[in-house]
Amino acid sequence: MSTAPRETIIVLDFGSQYSQLIARRIRELEVYCEMFPYHTPFERLERLNPVGYILSGGPASVYADSAPHVSEQILNAGKPILGICYGMQLFAYHLGGKVEPGAKREYGQTSLTITKKASPLFAPLSATELSVWMSHGDKVTALPDGFEPLAASPNAPYAAIGNAERKFYGLQFHPEVTHTPLGKEILRAFAYQVCGCSGGWTAQNFIEESIERIREQVGSGQVVCALSGGVDSSVAAALLHRAIGDQLTCIFVNNGLLRKNEPAQVEQTFRAEMHAKLVAVDAEQTFLDALADVTDPEQKRKIIGEKFVRIFEAEAEKLGKVDFLAQGTLYPDVIESANRDSNDPAAKIKTHHNVGGLPEDMALQLIEPLRYLFKDEVRKVGEALGLPPHIVWRHPFPGPGLAVRTLGAITKSRLDTLREADAIFIEELWNSGWYHKTSQTFAVLLPVQSVGVMGDGRTYSNVIALRAVTTDDFMTANWAHLPVELLSRVSSRIVNEVAGVNRVVYDITSKPPATIEWE
Ligand code: XMP
Repeated sequence: MSTAPRETIIVLDFGSQYSQLIARRIRELEVYCEMFPYHTPFERLERLNPVGYILSGGPASVYADSAPHVSEQILNAGKPILGICYGMQLFAYHLGGKVEPGAKREYGQTSLTITKKASPLFAPLSATELSVWMSHGDKVTALPDGFEPLAASPNAPYAAIGNAERKFYGLQFHPEVTHTPLGKEILRAFAYQVCGCSGGWTAQNFIEESIERIREQVGSGQVVCALSGGVDSSVAAALLHRAIGDQLTCIFVNNGLLRKNEPAQVEQTFRAEMHAKLVAVDAEQTFLDALADVTDPEQKRKIIGEKFVRIFEAEAEKLGKVDFLAQGTLYPDVIESANRDSNDPAAKIKTHHNVGGLPEDMALQLIEPLRYLFKDEVRKVGEALGLPPHIVWRHPFPGPGLAVRTLGAITKSRLDTLREADAIFIEELWNSGWYHKTSQTFAVLLPVQSVGVMGDGRTYSNVIALRAVTTDDFMTANWAHLPVELLSRVSSRIVNEVAGVNRVVYDITSKPPATIEWE
């Protein structure tokens, strides 16, 4: 699956928190881009036949003992290079320029004056004065031979430099962040003017290329895919189905821990509309039995993971000979694995089991049609494949499902209470246009009862907590500032429509210190 689509730009990661963002921006420009750790062997990179390299920023100083360096082979490859922040300091240093600690760190918004507007990097821009985002201590103080300054900021006379003949460009600021409003145009100029890209890497092209690749890889083999109802496995399944039709069998396990109507929606989409071969297993009772009296979150996770594997294995066995296991692994997982194994550059990228831990010993070859995509790209592909919005735009849902949102003991009745409350919350978010503005939203059933008064009577019933967060990476998250009217409507609907709930609270904790889930 490593055949890269044409025109590729490679980002070499020197440890900046923004490295992934560079790759995403380039792809938004419809140019395919992959990111690799800085020490990836040159031969491995050149296999993709890149049209240009981008050296990312990073926290190091080029003079530090442990500083990550760029290989001479890349500098001598005769290909365009864009160095960003540390990336620029790095090639300036390697080519005979001078890098020194700045008198003061420059951090935040600053103004940039373009002094060489004719440079291919800046020619397409409409302005010569830009607002840019800086974050650096060291700076370039003498240019290598053949380079000229292209732009300056109050604190950095060489805020942008270039060597038009070698097609090497350096930026002290970060064009990839939204705080540099024209940054994307500068990256566009690098990709299209400097590297000569023609673009056209779109969801539709991705689908066509993937179909060809999948058919080539699978041949006449049989593929099995665990469908969870989430966006990743759904898009992977839809893509595989488009490519190989009935050679794909999807296995969907209803563990009784899914959201309201979820099993029906999955069956409707894949069996009724797409006519995919779908094995739907109703294992609700099995899971409920296994979880009876279990209140410890990690214990819940363990039991659910193990049960799932056993059921999946048993169903896959019934299918007869199967050759491939399809998974919805995404690019951030791939990058994370590559970085985690960074002490061993040759280390194989690990496989992620995003469906709650699939069998390790099934002797199946893996097929991961989404392993080069970011989440937003997966959604675009899902839309282009015609999947319904409630699947394409569905927020992430944990493998253990509502078990980790039903705090305390899990019973069918407590799960049903939570399902009803959650469905109201989600429906109101969709109706108010807030679903897309949050990254993950859900209800939680607390393990306490609270006193209330409804009509003339005293009640002693359940409490529902609402959780809504915004985040880019789910590693950190902010609680969403939902409008008070929306919260008020959700609260009033839940206490009125869901039997056994008399109180609704809103979680206003960010991550850290809290996590997104409550368990
Ligand atoms: P936390 O709660 O750790 O969640 O802030 C971060 C993201 O991970 C999801 N999550 C899980 N996903 N199995 C999963 O497949 C799990 O056990 C699990 N626990 C948390 C969570 O929903 C959020 O998107």
